[in-house]
Amino acid sequence: MMMLPVAAAPPADTERRIQELVARMTLDEKIGQMSQSSGWSSPLSDKDHAEIRAGRWGSYLNAGTLQDKIAAQRIALKESRLGIPLLFGRDVIHGYRTVFPIPLGQAASWDPALVEAAARVAAQEAAADGIHWAFAPMVDIARDPRWGRIAEGSGEDPYLGSAMSAAVVHGFQGRALDAPGSIAACVKHYVGYGAAEGGRDYNTAWIPEVLLRNVYLPPFRAARDAGAATFMSAFEALNGVPASGNTFTLRKVLRDEWHFDGFVVSDWNSIAEMIPWGYAADEADAALKGVLGGVDMEMVSTTYYDHLKSLVDAGRIDVRLIDEAVANILRVKFRMGLFDRPVEPAKFAMESPESLETARRLAQESIVLLKNEGAALPLSKSARVAVIGPLADSAVDQMGSWVLDGRPEDVHTPLAAIRALAGDAQVAYAPGLENARDTSHAGFAAAVAAARSADRAVLFLGEDAGLSGEARSRAFLNLPGAQEALIDAIAATGKPVIGVIMAGRPLVFHDAAAKLQAILYAWHPGTMGGPAIAGLLYGEASPSGRLPVSFPRTVGQVPIYYDHMNTGRPPSEAERGVPAGTPINPKGDTSRYVDVDVTPEYPFGYGISYSVVKYENLRVSAPRMSKSGEITVTADLVNTGARDADETAQLYIRQLAASIVRPVRELKGFQRVRIPAGEKRTVRFALRTADLSFWNARGEFVAEPGQFQVWIAPDAEHGLRGEFRLE
Ligand code: GLC
Repeated sequence: MMMLPVAAAPPADTERRIQELVARMTLDEKIGQMSQSSGWSSPLSDKDHAEIRAGRWGSYLNAGTLQDKIAAQRIALKESRLGIPLLFGRDVIHGYRTVFPIPLGQAASWDPALVEAAARVAAQEAAADGIHWAFAPMVDIARDPRWGRIAEGSGEDPYLGSAMSAAVVHGFQGRALDAPGSIAACVKHYVGYGAAEGGRDYNTAWIPEVLLRNVYLPPFRAARDAGAATFMSAFEALNGVPASGNTFTLRKVLRDEWHFDGFVVSDWNSIAEMIPWGYAADEADAALKGVLGGVDMEMVSTTYYDHLKSLVDAGRIDVRLIDEAVANILRVKFRMGLFDRPVEPAKFAMESPESLETARRLAQESIVLLKNEGAALPLSKSARVAVIGPLADSAVDQMGSWVLDGRPEDVHTPLAAIRALAGDAQVAYAPGLENARDTSHAGFAAAVAAARSADRAVLFLGEDAGLSGEARSRAFLNLPGAQEALIDAIAATGKPVIGVIMAGRPLVFHDAAAKLQAILYAWHPGTMGGPAIAGLLYGEASPSGRLPVSFPRTVGQVPIYYDHMNTGRPPSEAERGVPAGTPINPKGDTSRYVDVDVTPEYPFGYGISYSVVKYENLRVSAPRMSKSGEITVTADLVNTGARDADETAQLYIRQLAASIVRPVRELKGFQRVRIPAGEKRTVRFALRTADLSFWNARGEFVAEPGQFQVWIAPDAEHGLRGEFRLE
């Protein structure tokens, strides 16, 4: 029987429309809405047409061309019994056709407004191609660079991570979820996936509730508060219960505490994977635990479609749970206007000049200057430069992991950009290696010859895109292949060598760093990474990136992160500086190593520029703060150099004694400040009780009276310190 689709109605009637529709749906149609297919053959097959008419699927991911999607949606709206629209999802992780830096690089910009602008471009490009829903932002806190997916998140800190999480949700969803160019966000991977034991992907995570609430949940709460339409449950088992069946996180926290009313989709096959996890006995049991746990839509595995009906008929699942899941899914489809808006999406130019400029700016702001000895940078355009290393001209690698719709032919590589800036005559190129993992020295002679013929060598180092992202855990964090040998060969020429490192994670390059006069850390910078890198190399702008994650001296220090606890036996200043490698004569009994320093190679928040900014004159507005009060902390930033600088001043606190031990520092604010050469700017931060609060062992979010230290700092290890007391 042909039924007209539900008539359009004002948003306030959404709940009524949902209930009316659910009441008319058969159990098969309900279960269809809870099932997501992994795409179809393009063009649509007769089987696809038949399944869409029957309401077999509520959503497709990675589904074909725009024309395919328009055809499929028309069938769903006009030929299925109830005209419920399909939801088209896709991994739009750091850009769609315009590829932005990997999210870890974007976090290094500490510029949420620019990250939001980039997400807006990604949304408009994806929406123009018929995508409704992006499986992003990934907001997993990661304190372990062995984990390949550290590339996809915003690093180790919940405050910076929360700012980035909200920025992407706002960028994707715009001012209204149903506005042209808006797409639904999907916050992932809920929750604790980044704590995979051993940094091994998909592994178990053991996270005490106080740590879960103080570190791993905040970026998800920030996304929820930004209005994220959907969440994605993770692969890992959290404290023994797979995240895709975890009632505590999916129902108690997300629904009962946060009152989230969108829907939860499982990660790829993660419902069925509860069987190998040893949490479900078989597929029917997996379906039962997915629905009871709180996952509304099953991605790719088909346990819901295969078993829910019999589970309902057998009385093992109350049909009201099914109705609840379907209502959550329909609520998002109504809020997106999918029932009412035209099937053809709004047009939007792919890779417009404005979009590419946003990509260049974000890439430029994401790049961190780690070292610049003797002002080796910026380069003079009159200098002859030898560009060396395969990553100088590798479009695919430069885009990084999780790129489905970027085109290598559209990428501007560093080599091309350096030639464009300095002129071909000034630039010699020798890859030295076939690729980033090449172990052969066959290309060294040509690279050494190029270096000898030049005034400077710019060495492009790091990881290829395939070495980072999902299922790419590494037990070693060194530069792969023969890159260290290549550095030695080039350094042996005696020419100044500048290193540009592209990677999806912090790497360990302690020895190599000593042979490089300057080091730019460029992550995987995306489509416009070349012009961004070249612009910094030649001083068109001053580097302004700051590390969103601690860099270990050796993989043996992992996990290493700035907001650690002090221990009962912190090493003294005198015990610092332990040389890396062979153990010193072991003495003392404090919390440290005998064969490497306890501090990171480069701390969280670290980054230098072509100028020097001095922090002076910290002022705390009062020695005491009442619970209802506010305290302000200010400092002067003086640009003592000859170039303008973009400085990111960071605000940290530390509670000296509390009902549970608290970190030695916690980021509670940051400000990017443009300081013209020779000038001073004052930064001012306000602290209120909420900023001093934490989740205690009784599950309460409280601020406890006590003495606090506070810093305004350039990174997590330095800065000006003050004190105040919370009454
Ligand atoms: C993958 C990833 C997830 C992605 C999903 C769809 O396995 O874990 O981040 O969004 O499947 O591709």
